[in-house]
Amino acid sequence: MRPLDLTKLLVCVGFATATGFALGADPVNVPDTMAERVKACVICHGKEARVGRYGYYPRIAGKPEGYLFNQLRNFRDGRRYYRPMALLLADVSDPYLLEMAAYFSALKQSYPPPERTAATPEELRLARKLINQGDAARKIPACVECHGKQLMGTAPFIPGLLGLPRAYLIAQFGAWRNGGVIRGHMPDCMSEIAKQLTPEEATALAAWLAAQPIPENDELDAVLPIEMARRCASIVQQGGTP
Ligand code: HEC
Ligand code: HEC
Repeated sequence: MRPLDLTKLLVCVGFATATGFALGADPVNVPDTMAERVKACVICHGKEARVGRYGYYPRIAGKPEGYLFNQLRNFRDGRRYYRPMALLLADVSDPYLLEMAAYFSALKQSYPPPERTAATPEELRLARKLINQGDAARKIPACVECHGKQLMGTAPFIPGLLGLPRAYLIAQFGAWRNGGVIRGHMPDCMSEIAKQLTPEEATALAAWLAAQPIPENDELDAVLPIEMARRCASIVQQGGTP
């Protein structure tokens, strides 16, 4: 399998000089391993999520494989928008995306420390209530029902919510609220839930989540309750190209 076309990306984001990447490097001596092939990804997705020149780079190591695969497809097919990744993935086949998803999912990396929070006690209470109980009157299920008892995710499609920076979480809630971005297939449970959240709730949730330490046992939950699964088309592995 061929490596990703780094040239396109480097030109797009002007990384060539920033990273000292040698565009004309002789590819002959490069071993064909997945670690080599995803070098372009690791420029942005290093050990930790971080704030960079081009946005908030989320962690991807250790996330559920099906989730990563679906997100890669979303970027490639324009359901989730970030130009450098769209360019990088433009001609990449599904089987290759799946291989990359498996590679990053199996990668073990330590998490960043919890963020300090300036949230008020009321905000933190509001967040905890949504996380553990939801709001039945507004058809918002508890976040733990899908994201796992410890919020570390549910295999193989639902990502964890801890270890993500507040700014990244706020950007995700914002993208869903603004409507244009529908990350999954319909019914897209997460965008439906996010649209129900008030801006205050989204802010409180992001602050609370980013301030939580990672639990000692950071395993994914194994089973998604069936009534939750029914709400989410995006948790089914997508086949074919739309
Ligand atoms: C130029 C920087 C950059 C490069 C290179 C890059 N990414 Fe990304 N990636 C981002 C940013 C920024 C986001 C968040 C975009 C958003 O919030 O929609 C992201 C999001 C993601 C996500 C979604 C994470 C989540 O938790 O939802 C995955 C998966 C991902 N990238 C995988 C990859 C892979 C695999 C590669 C290599 C083929 C790659 N990225 C290359 C910057 C980059
Ligand atoms: C019915 C199941 C379900 C419930 C309940 C749910 N989520 Fe989600 N959530 C998902 C799915 C599925 C995804 C992946 C979306 C995608 O494919 O783009 C997701 C993704 C996310 C992400 C993006 C994570 C990342 O790495 O980019 C955030 C943030 C999030 N959910 C927050 C919440 C919060 C906060 C709550 C509670 C108010 C909640 N979710 C309740 C199913 C659910």
